[in-house]
Amino acid sequence: MSVAIIGGTGLTSLRNLEITHREVVNTPYGEPSGPVTHGLLEGHQVMFLARHGYGHTIPPHRVNYRANLWALRNLGVDRLIAVAAVGGIAEEMPPGALAIPDQIIDYTWGRHHTLFEDDLTHVTHIDFSHPYEPALRRELLQGAERGSIPVMPAGTYGATQGPRLETAAEIRRLRRDGCDMVGMTGMPEAALARELDIRYAAVAVCANWAAGLGGDSISMDDIDQTLKAAMEQVRHLLAEVIPAL
Ligand code: HPA
Repeated sequence: MSVAIIGGTGLTSLRNLEITHREVVNTPYGEPSGPVTHGLLEGHQVMFLARHGYGHTIPPHRVNYRANLWALRNLGVDRLIAVAAVGGIAEEMPPGALAIPDQIIDYTWGRHHTLFEDDLTHVTHIDFSHPYEPALRRELLQGAERGSIPVMPAGTYGATQGPRLETAAEIRRLRRDGCDMVGMTGMPEAALARELDIRYAAVAVCANWAAGLGGDSISMDDIDQTLKAAMEQVRHLLAEVIPAL
């Protein structure tokens, strides 16, 4: 069985990935975000998919999460590391910080949230008490420790619909709800992975203070700059973790 990485904003390619080939996968749910890239990371086989497309043109609410996850499962993926940019809400999540979240609150709507809705012989309810797979989270935390990469070791990811950023009041509400970070792509990705029996964990990369927490507005230029630097840390973390899996 194989390992895959889904890269988000700021990580449409993995520079330390030696690409062997790309594979187009057709799925019953339509087209994935792009061909799946096969390659070697630190000498270990891994697959890579850019969530927003390799040209970064698919907004969060239009990502075909079902096709992406189904395609990876069909290629034999049983462990998936998702990289996702977030806005920081908790004090421990300033721009540039990394986190390995352990919980999710889902505020998204109107997305295809399940693979289990048509032609069913019985209704399926997955257990989602712990949305990120504990053993894979541990691997990420141990990799961070080995590589001396500071990470927030747990936290609640609030998944918003986007593509707009949140209002300051929405972020105050998310904070009251217990969210430590906010992003737009964590769901339904995590739930679909569970439905497909793929062990799934995420590396959240803080691009900015969430709305209202770090000044009067959020600058896309600042986000791009922050992500560029922080993704170096992510590449470093993946290089520690992948060989250990
Ligand atoms: N909100 C939601 N998603 C994000 C943010 C944010 O502030 N920054 C990066 N992804």
